Amino acid sequence: MIWKHAVVLSTILAVSSSTILPFPPGFKFGAATAAYQVEGGWNLDGKSENIWDRFVHEHPERIDDRSTGDVACDSYHNWRRDLEMAEELRLDFYRFSLSWSRILPSGFPNHINEAAIEYYNNVIDGILEKGIEPLVTIHHFDLPQSLQDLGGWANPLIVDWFEDYAKVVFAHFGDRVKLWLTINEPVILCEAFFNAEVFPPAFISPDLGVYLCSKHVMLAHAKAWRVYDKLLKPKYHGRVSLTTHITWFEPLAPEYEELAELTMLNFGGRYSHAIYSKIGGWPPALEKALAEVSLKRGYSRPQLPPFTQEEIELVRGTYDFFALNHYTSRLMRTAKEGEKFTEWPLGDVEDLNGIIVRKADWAQAATSWFYVNPEGIRKGLVWLKQQYGDLEFMITENGLATKAGLDDQDRVQYYRDYLEQVLLAINEDDVNVTAYTAWTLMDNYEWNNGYTVKFGLYEVNFTDPGRKRTPRASAHYYANIIRTHSLEI
Ligand code: NOJ
Repeated sequence: MIWKHAVVLSTILAVSSSTILPFPPGFKFGAATAAYQVEGGWNLDGKSENIWDRFVHEHPERIDDRSTGDVACDSYHNWRRDLEMAEELRLDFYRFSLSWSRILPSGFPNHINEAAIEYYNNVIDGILEKGIEPLVTIHHFDLPQSLQDLGGWANPLIVDWFEDYAKVVFAHFGDRVKLWLTINEPVILCEAFFNAEVFPPAFISPDLGVYLCSKHVMLAHAKAWRVYDKLLKPKYHGRVSLTTHITWFEPLAPEYEELAELTMLNFGGRYSHAIYSKIGGWPPALEKALAEVSLKRGYSRPQLPPFTQEEIELVRGTYDFFALNHYTSRLMRTAKEGEKFTEWPLGDVEDLNGIIVRKADWAQAATSWFYVNPEGIRKGLVWLKQQYGDLEFMITENGLATKAGLDDQDRVQYYRDYLEQVLLAINEDDVNVTAYTAWTLMDNYEWNNGYTVKFGLYEVNFTDPGRKRTPRASAHYYANIIRTHSLEI
């Protein structure tokens, strides 16, 4: 990494009051979307119902503006415009996800929906024609309803269901797609599904469902990774990983360091230790702490199901790079007697007796869970390197929630500040970060916030039948970073 320092020293240009910081040669920039959030076409051309379709139709009251993703950005029809935008931004790669219930309407490979294959073929070919690289997420929160009816991520058989689905998408798209993410943000998938009344099926099973889900996503990811590694990698030389959500948890005072560390292990570590650590399996300190909670609750066995030795070996090492999504930070302290945890709707913090407090000078973004703390991304990256060694890190999501119009200077500032911290992690802490992905290419369906919260580089007019997209100030700003391969601060 010595070259990095040399490059920085020789090329930092002091331009009046601003400084130009170059990104390392080969560093790549992208933007991301996800199927349910942009596609629409919820029941078109053979697509079946997924858990979000069911949820928003049956429970409009759970969505801030009672909206649905039935049409969303209508990318099912507007994908050509999406790719033009990717080109306007000069993206190196475009991250999007596949809809399981569009490709396999029953959830299983007994029937492959040719219309879905054609749709994704068009998108992938369109991306490649523009000289952009596709980065494909296989599963991003939108489980087929048919599989949810069989227990979804709480059913151990989902490990095989996901493997079968992954085989289908690798077989159809693996000749052209060289970068894959198996499952998006398992911590949110499991916690929000089972631990909080947030995501469908809004099935509250904090004592068990969430822990079963944690184990099954790790095994499902591992099986899919091994399929690719064995059958496709020798021929296509692609790379596969899992997207881990990393929130930075910081102790309010030194005496809470252990609690903050345990919380890092619970949120990030529970979904990465088994893959990236040398020993594999659950983080030992977390496994012990959660087992004590189970005992206190009267369970005869730990709620977090242990891995067998065979499972540890199955999961360990199933990565080609570390993919992380990062947005926000929290401050931690221990709960006092009778005090309820605050500021995060996820129950396991309570299990660990932590109470989260927000630091007064962290600005609140336009959604409840989001405080802006640029240093958090650097600290998170350093923590990951300390935990798992000198891996290659790709940031697969980062961006700001606003209520913005077109002149979104707050988002410009967010990108500037977070990217500065990414550069500090690279140049000062020698973290090997090779890619950055803006969330998101365009405003889209922000889950329980519906269309009330905007993350887009492009504004989308949701009252216009054509869903017109218009670049914001942040789109011009991001395009300029990509064009100059540098950051002006
Ligand atoms: C992460 C999720 O992957 C994405 O779907 C969501 O929209 C963003 N966070 C913002 O909340």
